Amino acid sequence: MNMKLSAWTLAAALLLPLAAQAQAPAKAPIKDPEFCLTCHDDLTDEKVVHPAIRNGCLDCHTNLDASVRPHKNSGKLPHGLDAKQPDLCLSCHGKLVANKKLRHPAIDMGCTGCHDQHSGKNPRMLKALPPDLCFKCHDKDDFNGKFVHGPVKAGQCVTCHEPHASDNANLLKKPGAQMCLECHDDIKDAPHMLAGFSRKGHPIGDEKRPQPTADPLRKGKLFYCASCHEPHRSDFDKMRRFDPNLGMGVCQKCHDK
Ligand code: HEC
Ligand code: HEC
Ligand code: HEC
Ligand code: HEC
Ligand code: HEC
Ligand code: HEC
Ligand code: HEC
Ligand code: HEC
Ligand code: HEC
Repeated sequence: MNMKLSAWTLAAALLLPLAAQAQAPAKAPIKDPEFCLTCHDDLTDEKVVHPAIRNGCLDCHTNLDASVRPHKNSGKLPHGLDAKQPDLCLSCHGKLVANKKLRHPAIDMGCTGCHDQHSGKNPRMLKALPPDLCFKCHDKDDFNGKFVHGPVKAGQCVTCHEPHASDNANLLKKPGAQMCLECHDDIKDAPHMLAGFSRKGHPIGDEKRPQPTADPLRKGKLFYCASCHEPHRSDFDKMRRFDPNLGMGVCQKCHDK
């Protein structure tokens, strides 16, 4: 417990319970966050304060009786909390994950892995900003190398990925090729990689060539840009997955030899 012991809070800590007792109905003021903040003002010190605080601390600390000290906890969870995470947070923020096919496993590790619960110094009360936030659990080395994709270098993980949940594989904000074409729409206008071989080119999953084709090398994945390109980092230029020195050997990775 890291509380600021200013003369004012000290005085409040000593006098307030007495005053509350003397003037009776302890219930109403105790529901008011201002009551709790007379002693716990350090919790809202940071720039971005959780709007839930306005409604009262007891929305989350349902089972805490703060009229006595140490406070009495009539529930089963620490701090008199109403529910475990992420359910506590999802009781108000359920929309973030509702009806989505894929949920980031980080959610079930608790929302406070990424967010502060009371107030924080970053936007959205984030504990750190991407990419550092993501590197708390994902190995930084997987995003480094000889060639690093522009938006990865710029730390824009959440330009491509939803942090909470998504209907698309790998939590992408748009399905596969559409995600890439957001920034590379010039690719649509030419038979990609195959000029000279085929006017139609590879079925890369855009609207001209939308047919979903299985990736011959990666089980359970569809064939799209990332079948030939690394999305994050690569040992070869143009974010290639395969060593261009292989020449036609690159084609033979997927096409019968
Ligand atoms: C949105 C839900 C929510 C609200 C609203 C909320 N808290 Fe909390 N509080 C939590 C959670 C979750 C934890 C436990 C975090 C953990 O396990 O590390 C916690 C922990 C605490 C703790 C102990 C650990 C710490 O962070 O210092 C104190 C003290 C506390 N809350 C006081 C308050 C007060 C006072 C208010 C109102 C001004 C308040 N809380 C409002 C969710 C909330
Ligand atoms: C008069 C001062 C004072 C007021 C008012 C006060 N607290 Fe506390 N609170 C403390 C002190 C001191 C501690 C740490 C030692 C202890 O537990 O007594 C504490 C600890 C806590 C803790 C962490 C320990 C635990 O029991 O889980 C929570 C959570 C908490 N307070 C929430 C609240 C909430 C919510 C309110 C308003 C409804 C509130 N407090 C009002 C002084 C206060
Ligand atoms: C009692 C309802 C309630 C609960 C429970 C709740 N929140 Fe909130 N939260 C709100 C409201 C209201 C807002 C403001 C409107 C919005 O962004 O949805 C908000 C906003 C936020 C924001 C955005 C803040 C910003 O600056 O835009 C984050 C992040 C957040 N909550 C995280 C959490 C986390 C983490 C938990 C669980 C520890 C939680 N919330 C539990 C009501 C709640
Ligand atoms: C892996 C980290 C991570 C986890 C876990 C996480 N969040 Fe977030 N959350 C983020 C990031 C990053 C943003 C900012 C997204 C942006 O700026 O586009 C965000 C934004 C938000 C916002 C602002 C509105 C929005 O949709 O952008 C709310 C509210 C929120 N989170 C609540 C929660 C709640 C509730 C949980 C738990 C159920 C949770 N978050 C778990 C990383 C996380
Ligand atoms: C340009 C868009 C883009 C950016 C920016 C991006 N990713 Fe990805 N990420 C993808 C794509 C596309 C996939 C799926 C590739 C595939 O089909 O195998 C993916 C897959 C993943 C996976 C699943 C495991 C894996 O490697 O296949 C993780 C984890 C991941 N990204 C984390 C991150 C993190 C952390 C950042 C920021 C440092 C980030 N991504 C930035 C597009 C992006
Ligand atoms: C608290 C830990 C934690 C944090 C922080 C975290 N992740 Fe994850 N993430 C996981 C776990 C666990 C998995 C599942 C195992 C794996 O793929 O590594 C996962 C999986 C993923 C996947 C693959 C999902 C799939 O099913 O294909 C992506 C994409 C991803 N995370 C992106 C991000 C991004 C972007 C951030 C930062 C905004 C981030 N993660 C922060 C724990 C975390
Ligand atoms: C948010 C925008 C954005 C998204 C989304 C995006 N890229 Fe990029 N991409 C860039 C930027 C910026 C560069 C660097 C351009 C430069 O250095 O000239 C780049 C470079 C590349 C290059 C290397 C180009 C060259 O000439 O060296 C390839 C290949 C590439 N991206 C493929 C992809 C694929 C595949 C996807 C989808 C998984 C994707 N990009 C999604 C912005 C994006
Ligand atoms: C069949 C494999 C394959 C697929 C599928 C593929 N690419 Fe490529 N792409 C390549 C190769 C190989 C190069 C480098 C040689 C070249 O330019 O022909 C390349 C080059 C690029 C470049 C660099 C600029 C350029 O035109 O040379 C970008 C950007 C790019 N691809 C984006 C994409 C996007 C976006 C998609 C999906 C919509 C995609 N690629 C699908 C193999 C592929
Ligand atoms: C990562 C796997 C992969 C690589 C590498 C690859 N291809 Fe393909 N290629 C495919 C898939 C998948 C199809 C679509 C097959 C289908 O529709 O059943 C395809 C289709 C084609 C087609 C038929 C396009 C049309 O007009 O319908 C030609 C021609 C072709 N590839 C040539 C090449 C050549 C040449 C190379 C090397 C420069 C190459 N491919 C590299 C996976 C790959």
